[in-house]
Amino acid sequence: MLTLGNHTWARRELQPYLEESDRVVRPANFSRYAPGRPLAVATATDGTRVAVVQLMGWLFLEVAVGPFELVDDLVEEARAAAPVVVVDFHAEATSEKQAMARWLDGRVTAVLGTHTHVQTADARVLPGGTAAITDAGMTGPHDSIIGVKAELATQRMRTGIPVRFEPAEGDVRIEGVLVECDPDGRARSCEPVRVPIA
Ligand SMILES: [Fe+2]
Repeated sequence: MLTLGNHTWARRELQPYLEESDRVVRPANFSRYAPGRPLAVATATDGTRVAVVQLMGWLFLEVAVGPFELVDDLVEEARAAAPVVVVDFHAEATSEKQAMARWLDGRVTAVLGTHTHVQTADARVLPGGTAAITDAGMTGPHDSIIGVKAELATQRMRTGIPVRFEPAEGDVRIEGVLVECDPDGRARSCEPVRVPIA
């Protein structure tokens, strides 16, 4: 399954696809009138049902309602559909991401932070059995400023003048986390993944 985030509406042509796809998830706390779904369920190769949901933090990001307003209902719906529930929390602040992980501890398999692109060193299983990391990191070019050619991002910050960003190319890595869990959805381990590609 694939989750999105604050750039969901950057490409108009994605909107009809979001309506059709049952594998692509957008933040639940966008407007309820916007296209796309916040919850998707699929069957893993061993037959286990897995639900994926996404929420967006509200510090520095534009959301229709705060993530804590609707997370409980969303998680309840996900748990009714599958024993394994993965929450992608797309947010800027480490505190907000840690708070969401603690709030959901014992109710979901994993709360994985995304959006800041820099993998954090806190992958862990919380006391209630929920795997968590503040940010899973970036799959992309790390010789960059969060994926953009460093000289362009720096130029914009130094001058305040908008610059057309281009993706960088060097030091491509796959980053993420590997979560192992029991069939009932309780996490057993949570390990960061960082694989150099080019
Ligand atoms: Fe983002």
